[in-house]
Amino acid sequence: MRVALLILLGLVIGVIGTVNVVGALNARNPMPKAVMTTMDYHMGQLSHALKAGQCNAVSSKQHLQRLQSTATDIMPVFGVTEKPFDEAATRLQTRLDQALQSAPVDCPALAAAIKPIGDACKSCHQKYR
Ligand code: HEC
Repeated sequence: MRVALLILLGLVIGVIGTVNVVGALNARNPMPKAVMTTMDYHMGQLSHALKAGQCNAVSSKQHLQRLQSTATDIMPVFGVTEKPFDEAATRLQTRLDQALQSAPVDCPALAAAIKPIGDACKSCHQKYR
């Protein structure tokens, strides 16, 4: 009887401990959200430029470069090893590379360059967010 109680107690402590640890890990790792928030900021700047009709080639390039380098943090920071997640992150990177190569100099070019990027964000969110 005493042994059974001790085992039960051990299990309960174990469960409480696990829940706390998972909660603490989530709270302590701000990186996944930080990466997303950073990308969101640069996408936001690009769409503001579009709305304002002021698509400066230099600043478009800067935001696209920041998006490109930040997107490389998705895989290491999220620690999700599922293949479709990996593919979604890779797709975003490919599209960012293409957008940079297209070097948009005006608003129509910028709009065409960021449309596939927005689609890549959306398709991963539909599945994983
Ligand atoms: C490979 C998958 C993937 C791609 C690609 C992706 N995201 Fe996310 N995003 C996620 C996941 C998963 C979350 C939920 C993170 C969480 O709640 O911890 C998220 C959350 C977010 C959030 C909410 C952050 C918060 O504070 O809760 C924003 C904003 C965001 N993403 C913007 C973007 C933008 C902009 C892009 C494209 C440039 C993008 N994401 C591309 C997976 C992705």
